Amino acid sequence: MSLVEIIGLSAHFPTHDGIVKAVDRIDLNIEDTETLGLIGETGSGKSVLGLSITRLLPPTAIVEGKIIYKGRNLLTVSEDDIRKIRGGEITNILQNPTTSLNPVVKIGEQIAEAIRLHQGLNKKEAKEKAIEMLDAVKVPSPSKRAQQYPHEFSGGMKQRVMIAIGLACDPFFIIADEPTKGLDVTIKVQIVDLMKEMTEHKTMLLITHDLGVAAAMCDRIALMYAGEIVECATPLDLFEKPMHPYTRGFLNSLPHRGLTPIQGMSPSLINYPDGCRFSPRCEYVNEECIHHHPDMFRIECEHFVRCFNARS
Ligand SMILES: Nc1ncnc2c1ncn2[C@@H]1O[C@H](COP(=O)(O)OP(=O)(O)O)[C@@H](O)[C@H]1O
Ligand SMILES: [Mg+2]
Repeated sequence: MSLVEIIGLSAHFPTHDGIVKAVDRIDLNIEDTETLGLIGETGSGKSVLGLSITRLLPPTAIVEGKIIYKGRNLLTVSEDDIRKIRGGEITNILQNPTTSLNPVVKIGEQIAEAIRLHQGLNKKEAKEKAIEMLDAVKVPSPSKRAQQYPHEFSGGMKQRVMIAIGLACDPFFIIADEPTKGLDVTIKVQIVDLMKEMTEHKTMLLITHDLGVAAAMCDRIALMYAGEIVECATPLDLFEKPMHPYTRGFLNSLPHRGLTPIQGMSPSLINYPDGCRFSPRCEYVNEECIHHHPDMFRIECEHFVRCFNARS
């Protein structure tokens, strides 16, 4: 059963050059307790999608569509309600702990604050819970570490703090944006293991450009290109039987597959091609692709592809 149902979601930003269509009519279901990976190159709209779910985009964003969570559209619930849901039932573990943590507030207090906002605990109880959370994310000497400031934490330790803040209120749904970015390999493996352990019975949208992380953690993976999802499948199908020419190109452009770049450039998010957005770069392009925008076609029960050539 879907916990979150994203229907026709668009997030557009008016700029003086035109309207940046960062997320454009996305449909996506996130099933209860699954980890859904969202991958794609930089600028394809992944973070904007993650932020739009809890209405964290700047007020200049024009957001349309529906995000149904427990029968309610998160885009239209009151400001008060979304504040209660955000950080409580649904949390964003944000990209870049260095800028997300307050440099002048002790780590323990930052976690306690997140807890107090949502759990109605008093200051002392929240402080104790904050230390418990530091312990849960395996920060050594948690009581001592709670008294320290962010600059006294390494990158990996800061990431653990971000996870502690994100999970402090025992959310149902976690949106994690690049939780392993900038970490070296051994630390990355530790963070992946920690997140797996701590989110086992939870639902997660995991945004990452790291396919190894996606493969290790996700039940399904959705690949974004130019503001939309072009392929969605289990990791096995996506890696072994990629159907979209862009997916194949994306996989081949990765270091372990030989770094073969895809010819051409990603389209401007202001002026998309009329038909398939990948058509100007696609070696299999035909008339239909140039003039019509493909829907998502179902290839197998869990495998969807936005490509006319993949249609059966
Ligand atoms: N506040 C904003 N105003 C204008 N454009 C934005 C804003 N936020 C994001 N964008 C644009 O939206 C596009 C998608 O961004 P983003 O979701 O951050 O990409 P990703 O996370 O996939 O790297 C980018 O072109 C980015 O410049
Ligand atoms: Mg991003």
